[in-house]
Amino acid sequence: MNNSGIDSDFLVIGGGIAGMIFAIKAAAIGSVTVLTKAASDEANTAYAQGGIASVWSVDDSFESHVADTLRAGAGVCDRAAVESIVRDGPEVVRELIALGTHFTRVDEGGEDEYDLGREGGHSHRRVLHAQDLTGREIMRALGAAARARGNIRVLENHVAVNLLIDKGADGRPQSCWGAYALEKSTMRVRKIAARTTLLATGGAGKVYLYTTNPDIASGDGVAMAYRAGAPIANMEFYQFHPTCLYHPAAKSFLISEALRGEGAILRLPDGTPFMKRYHPDAELAPRDVVARAIDSEMKRGGYDCVYLDLSHRDAGFIRERFPNIYERCLGFGFDLTAAPIPVVPAAHYMCGGVVTDLMGRTGIPRLYAAGEVAMTGLHGANRLASNSLLEAAVMGRRAFAAARELLGHDEAAIPEFRQWDPGAAIKSEQHVLITHSWEEIRRLMWNYVGIVRSDLRLESALRRILMLKEEIHGYYWHHQIDSDLVELRNLVTVAELVVRCAMLRKESRGLHYNIDHPEHPHHPDDAGTPHNTTMRRFDAPPPATLSA
Ligand code: FAD
Ligand code: SIN
Repeated sequence: MNNSGIDSDFLVIGGGIAGMIFAIKAAAIGSVTVLTKAASDEANTAYAQGGIASVWSVDDSFESHVADTLRAGAGVCDRAAVESIVRDGPEVVRELIALGTHFTRVDEGGEDEYDLGREGGHSHRRVLHAQDLTGREIMRALGAAARARGNIRVLENHVAVNLLIDKGADGRPQSCWGAYALEKSTMRVRKIAARTTLLATGGAGKVYLYTTNPDIASGDGVAMAYRAGAPIANMEFYQFHPTCLYHPAAKSFLISEALRGEGAILRLPDGTPFMKRYHPDAELAPRDVVARAIDSEMKRGGYDCVYLDLSHRDAGFIRERFPNIYERCLGFGFDLTAAPIPVVPAAHYMCGGVVTDLMGRTGIPRLYAAGEVAMTGLHGANRLASNSLLEAAVMGRRAFAAARELLGHDEAAIPEFRQWDPGAAIKSEQHVLITHSWEEIRRLMWNYVGIVRSDLRLESALRRILMLKEEIHGYYWHHQIDSDLVELRNLVTVAELVVRCAMLRKESRGLHYNIDHPEHPHHPDDAGTPHNTTMRRFDAPPPATLSA
């Protein structure tokens, strides 16, 4: 630490695409600390299959990508966010390539070109990919680029617990100066002070029983920012991916939408295709439509799953284009080239999050957010496939630009923050309380706050969540923390935010479908002005507003 009491100029909480892009740029002008709660290559980014959406071919246009994004977002997107993020797409893809990412190339009539995939809701082929392991390739390239820079200190297995917030006399946040982080190997909580802090903690799929997300996705960033007093919005829009492999050992392994882009058909157990009954674009309808259609067919027929069929395509093409998915399915006894495979929906992506402006600034000075943790206005009520890697990369870069600007004229002295004080906390002997509450929240969210909701189920969910929250908080304050307890406290906060936002939205729109409010009234939003469900800890109770 230098004399000013600062460990780093930049603290980056999260080592996925958003955090690493920020860190790589920041390393050129200052010292950077990156925290990752597990190994540094474990992040939602690493699991991305389909790819990154960007206008790339001459047949495509920004207007078309903007129109597709707005259509999927069902009247809740912020048009300015959509236009500016879409326009930065080609530049950010070029930067990923310059940093060493190898996207798949094909021979197009004698020309060696990048292969462009197609996914639901897109009217053009515009998804750059590395076969079906795009995220793994991006993480490899960013990891290597970061290691090549001297200034980046990556602290793996460090779980950020709380932000270091300088509060005013009224208790409201003035600015953020880093975070407390639990070092898992020693169980020591370290104070990490920084002039600027980026939240890049990804999503919260673990709040649902079935999810495509890895274990790191427990919504820590949203919960920390909410506790600190930053506005959070649109948490009701949790996206369910329509097609995960249905097999008890597959842990909701994702079957990329790119398969439907290459012609895969959804079928009932008797082989009947059904998507045309739900949308003129059938299998390539936006994700909310496809997930709801599958849910509805499974409930109507009492089926455990539906089937995805790509077996009419050439076997060589399938193995070449989707090598990872093909092999994984084969490992579970399903041959993609020979027969339909069983699929079900699972929680996938958090469209809401910490509200930021178009430079990644949150409601708290010196605190930035980028990637899945953030709510920029790009996704609205439903994210368009492959727009999240795009947003994370664009906003990671912009958040760095905003932080750099602040540091350019920063003379503030860091306030005095205490070292972490465990007080009279005792060692936890009752781990079952944590595992039980964890399971209860996830099951409750799946059953009551899933693809289809009702007022009664939401009210009931909130009552149970508030009881669990009280119990978890009591436990938290009396016991020495470990990563499970930290995550559980965050998970219950995220669950509460999802339910409260869902209760505020008295309509069905995009990913939020409530049988008691099946329509959405024509709203000025449909012409492009978003209306967001915004929650802020310091608002008068209940801490929620529907804001224009
Ligand atoms: P992440 O990549 O999730 O990184 C989060 C980081 O934060 C991790 O390093 C984690 O350790 C760290 N972290 C979290 N909490 C803490 C804490 N308390 N303390 C310290 N560190 C913490 N999107 C697309 O656009 N195209 C796709 O093809 C695509 N496919 C997908 C497939 C799957 C299976 C999944 C799960 C998602 C997919 N997505 C896809 C979504 C996309 O991958 C994510 O939205 C995106 O990668 C998020 O990047 P991020 O940088 O915001 O967060
Ligand atoms: C997929 O490959 O289907 C995932 C794409 C995404 O989530 O954007």
